[in-house]
Amino acid sequence: MKKLLAMAMLATAAINTHAIENQPDSLYLFSYTTDHNKNHDGLHFAWSIDNKSWHKIGGSHNFVSSDYGPWGSGKRMIDPVLLRRKDGKWVCTWLVNEDGKVIANTETDDLILWKPQDYYAAGDKKNGNRNIERQQIVFPDGDRRKGVVIKVERAVVNDLIAEYERSQYRNARQSELMRDDPMRFKGLKDVTFTVTANPTDKKAISPELFGIFFEDINYAADGGLYAELLQNRDFEYTPHDVRGRNKDWNATYAWSIEGEGITMSIDTVAPLHPNNSHYALLDISTTGSALVNAGWDGVAVKAGEKYDFSMFAKSEKVTPFELRIVDKDGNVIARRKINIGGKGWKQTKTVVVPDKTVSDGRLELRPLATGKVAVDFISLFPQNTFKGRKNGMRKDLAEKLVDLHPRFVRFPGGCLAHGNGLHNIYRWKNTIGELWERKGMRNIWNYHQTMGLGYYEYFRFCEDIGATPLPVIAAGVPCQNSSDGGDGQQGGLPMEEMQQYIQDILDLVEWARGDKSTKWGSLRAKAGHPKPFDLKYIGIGNEDLISDVFTVRYKMICEAVKAKYPDIQIVGTAGPFNRGSDYEYGWKLANEMNLDVIDEHYYVPSGWMIYNQDFYDSYDRNKTKVYLGEYASHTPGKKHNMESALTTALYLASVERNADVVQLSSYAPLLSRRGHQQWSHNLIYFDNASIRLTTDYHVQKLYGRNAGDEYIPCYAKADNNQENVRLRMGHSIVRDSGTGDVIIKLVNLLPVKVTTKLNLEGILGTTVRATAETMAGKPADEGVAPVKTEQEVSPVIDYEMSPYSFTVIRFNPDKK
Ligand code: AHR
Repeated sequence: MKKLLAMAMLATAAINTHAIENQPDSLYLFSYTTDHNKNHDGLHFAWSIDNKSWHKIGGSHNFVSSDYGPWGSGKRMIDPVLLRRKDGKWVCTWLVNEDGKVIANTETDDLILWKPQDYYAAGDKKNGNRNIERQQIVFPDGDRRKGVVIKVERAVVNDLIAEYERSQYRNARQSELMRDDPMRFKGLKDVTFTVTANPTDKKAISPELFGIFFEDINYAADGGLYAELLQNRDFEYTPHDVRGRNKDWNATYAWSIEGEGITMSIDTVAPLHPNNSHYALLDISTTGSALVNAGWDGVAVKAGEKYDFSMFAKSEKVTPFELRIVDKDGNVIARRKINIGGKGWKQTKTVVVPDKTVSDGRLELRPLATGKVAVDFISLFPQNTFKGRKNGMRKDLAEKLVDLHPRFVRFPGGCLAHGNGLHNIYRWKNTIGELWERKGMRNIWNYHQTMGLGYYEYFRFCEDIGATPLPVIAAGVPCQNSSDGGDGQQGGLPMEEMQQYIQDILDLVEWARGDKSTKWGSLRAKAGHPKPFDLKYIGIGNEDLISDVFTVRYKMICEAVKAKYPDIQIVGTAGPFNRGSDYEYGWKLANEMNLDVIDEHYYVPSGWMIYNQDFYDSYDRNKTKVYLGEYASHTPGKKHNMESALTTALYLASVERNADVVQLSSYAPLLSRRGHQQWSHNLIYFDNASIRLTTDYHVQKLYGRNAGDEYIPCYAKADNNQENVRLRMGHSIVRDSGTGDVIIKLVNLLPVKVTTKLNLEGILGTTVRATAETMAGKPADEGVAPVKTEQEVSPVIDYEMSPYSFTVIRFNPDKK
């Protein structure tokens, strides 16, 4: 209750912002930071009438924080200096660490919206004068701080106070949780909600609204959707793949020798391919031992199914081996004699059929003769992949993605696309061609990416599932949170490399769409796809810092792609949040450049979804469209429960209403292998034997499978007009012009029943049978899946929504 009262008081405070009306016209403003929290504290303000007695604005509220370097060890602000220039603009500079070599620099007109930061060497004149006097202030609570004092108009201080109060108000609203509902809605009676369709005002909406975000995070590709069963098949893992250089993570990772008769060493002389420079050299002194691969938490195979085994070897003479798949108790469940090697690298292939299903087996290669043999690129791949594709996707996982009915697939990320440092930018050309010629590399999420699931497999998968590819390519800069290489900041490709970098992007279009007489189209054809692939979107950049380094490269790329391929829709970027400098300046650039689409990201507390259903209502319909490229509703402990599911369902009803400006959306991240998680809130969890679909997955599926291309607006009114009640009821009506089906989505986030009086006159002539799918449960319930029923729907019906529920009713007015 105390919390609810506090929230109400804050709401009032937000209206009465000007707390210092009766003070002089000019005041002293003190800007400072603290060394708290390893200098992650950002810039604070305090004000004073007399430069003696000081009042902090919002205690430790930070008005701008450092964006330099990686999360954790970076993002530090030391010794900030805030100056006002003659033109009235403010400039703030600070040291990003103790060595003082790099100075962060940002500007602002109002001390509230700050420009994206740039970073210059100490002494660069862009930093302005940092040799100004710092004053020591002692606050009434005894806190002593050094900083800069400037005289300002009272309005400046008032605006800062107002901004602080607004932020408190926002925070209070977005941290509302359903566990407080018994108090919040004490005594609340069932609600009646009248929803009257207004088909005459229907509008066209994007038919591609729901897609998926694929990133190799949490072992989503290698060890996940990519069906290879052996880990480190090419002996290319290196300690550098893992932050902190884990020495056990090396070329022998996942491999071991069982028994005494073999030694294994790693060699690089005359490799299979320069991009695959390591291989294992086996020195076999006696038979009876084995080279073993542990797979991904074990090798998972099914009884009676066929598995393609292949490997490369070279040796003085052809050497016989026994290939075995063994269960965890040592029982052999598949075996085959193979002859490997000979002079020069030779590939051996065979098919094995296990007689038992296991999820935690291993692969053994047992030499049947002594000698030295070099081995590389050892692979075990199910034939039973999704659509039976060679080098394809794990079938059960792929089917779960298909069930979402995604209209597009984003790839390869996320941060993976722009990488951790310049050398880690994802390059599509490294991911095509023969598997052993591809260039695997460090995965930004601290493991190894083989590129086995490369651009060819990605485009083929999109085609197989009827989805449009949406490749995202770095804007010539790595992730602004980079920790690997250089001084750990965004940086940018040297200008002399930009022409080739841009050419690579243009070559991607030719590779996807060019006919087989073109240089790049011929490679696609050679890989097995003479027909062009569909490609109409290219994303440039991923939630980047909109710095000068970024902007110049971003513009060069976008302009070059548009000049050569005017029909390609460029998807730009608007930073990692739904507000603040990268969002504002990302949008400003998009407007200046007249970009087709812009990619917004926001992972938000579940309460944000409730209070921001009008987020897109005021967006300009005639400008750049939106790709809501990464989003999720996070509850405490990042649980996938009804609270996260329902707040998302509610918010998506508003996104659907705005799908004339929001063209694309994808929840993130998508996949997570149990026990290998770098991100704690994902749509689907899996291991070798099972798949867990989250409540959020079911919401995505209900929206994806019940999308439309026309939105039918409604007049909606509840018999309870309290704001927090009204905002917890959502609805959306769409029509799919392809099937003629009309789909109604109803969301109830209240602890009481809501009777929806639906008036569908003008849409529905007579009573028809319809299917309804409902998810209902308590806010903390996990594992809730929709329940399907058939029911009668007439033009005027009372539909009773259970407390905390989401219902989708689908009917076809033409079918009786
Ligand atoms: O979805 C996980 C990560 O979140 C993405 O890689 C990145 O773009 C975002 O910060």
